[in-house]
Amino acid sequence: MVKQFKNDFLWGASSSAFQIEGAWNEDGKGLTVADYNSFKKSAVQADTKVASDFYHHFKEDIALMKELGLKRFSLSWARIIPTGDGEINQAGIDFYNAVIDTLLENDILPFVTLYHFDLPFALVEKYNGWADRRCVSAFQRYAQVCYQAFGDRVKNWQVTNEQNLMIRVDERMNMYDVVPENTEKIRAQMDYHMFVAHALATNDCHQLVAGGKVGPSVSSTMTYPSSNKPEDVWAARMNDNFKTNYALEMYCFGEYPGYYQEYLTKCGIYPETQPEDQAILKAAKPDFIALNYYRTLVASYLPTDEQHPLGTKEKDIDFDLYGYFKIEKNQHLKTSKYGAQIDPTGLRLVLNDYYHQYRLPLIITENGLGTPDRLTEDGKVHDDYRIAYLYDHIAACHAAISDGVELFGYCPWSVMDILSSHQGFKKRYGFIYVNREDHELKDLRRIKKDSFYWYQSVIKNNGLPEE
Ligand code: BG6
Repeated sequence: MVKQFKNDFLWGASSSAFQIEGAWNEDGKGLTVADYNSFKKSAVQADTKVASDFYHHFKEDIALMKELGLKRFSLSWARIIPTGDGEINQAGIDFYNAVIDTLLENDILPFVTLYHFDLPFALVEKYNGWADRRCVSAFQRYAQVCYQAFGDRVKNWQVTNEQNLMIRVDERMNMYDVVPENTEKIRAQMDYHMFVAHALATNDCHQLVAGGKVGPSVSSTMTYPSSNKPEDVWAARMNDNFKTNYALEMYCFGEYPGYYQEYLTKCGIYPETQPEDQAILKAAKPDFIALNYYRTLVASYLPTDEQHPLGTKEKDIDFDLYGYFKIEKNQHLKTSKYGAQIDPTGLRLVLNDYYHQYRLPLIITENGLGTPDRLTEDGKVHDDYRIAYLYDHIAACHAAISDGVELFGYCPWSVMDILSSHQGFKKRYGFIYVNREDHELKDLRRIKKDSFYWYQSVIKNNGLPEE
């Protein structure tokens, strides 16, 4: 007996431009926020200069993807308009045309992300990035250029990767020297601008790409209450709401939910809006929701006090919010070497939640285990821990489908070893090992890990063997 998936289920594996491409300044590409931030850490870990060198290896890499059996592959874009809103870089269009054509020749469906943390740095210098409405127009134009250049062959689009997580990290939002009192106001304005840009790009995709499908990709959040006290249950719900659901509501229904409007108003950080926005936001109807899933969280109620009025934040990615919630550790889960609490049941829960709340088809665009893999003397990588992790999470997908969830694809992170933001090439996620270290490029050879062969058989059999 196997855990069988439907014949048209999309098995894939994901990546993003700045984490694999390298060639950071070749053929006219401009500097991005992701480059800028990675160069600040060049002395301690690998940066975006070479990354996995996909730019120079893409034919070989796509041949490996075909061998693996992928039906879907995702890319994102930073080379098309080097200054963000200036001239179009034909060499960038040519590169992505070559990638897309090679994918299609290999029967791999391109599933393209427009923006994965890599805003052109020129937009930061000119406008302070998303803080300024002009960044919205720049993004709309960039999306239109992509739809026009590639929409004849690319039918599946994700507008942004993890806006809801990116917005929490000052560095990713290029908030470098902001006066602390203004931080949350600027953040709320940037977030809102990205939502308007997202809606414009959704509407344009439907206009410009015949048969085009488009949706957001979110960093999913699944939070357990730390106890069965009603205020802790409410805190857990609010943690999900503030980290992810407010964004899904905006993408799907074109407005912030009541609890979020109340928070923005009470904290005095409600963003400036334009009269035309409502129609734009309301018209944008995603065709699917893409979600990235790595772990679950636990929350307890966090009351305000004299030093911490409502809305005071502590930490960034997994922030605590006074008046709402505080993040706790789950004593029942094992943790990966890098701190993620591993929880396949959480994936089943979050798939059920999102499907039953939004009734849109779902696809998983990231899920995986980051580990320091070891290349053995005989040139192999025995990553049985990754196989076990993926087995349990694919089984959770199977269970969610049996629960009634419309899940149409699973794309683990990542197809090959990528540049991890905090641990460079020490932390590896791929099915394909890239032979380099943080500060030693070696030969960049591609080596199939044990998980490559295992995932290949999952795809071939369209399901999991019983354990
Ligand atoms: C996701 C991002 O949030 O997490 C990826 O979309 C990232 O770009 C992944 O690589 C894993 O995080 P990290 O810090 O291990 O690279």
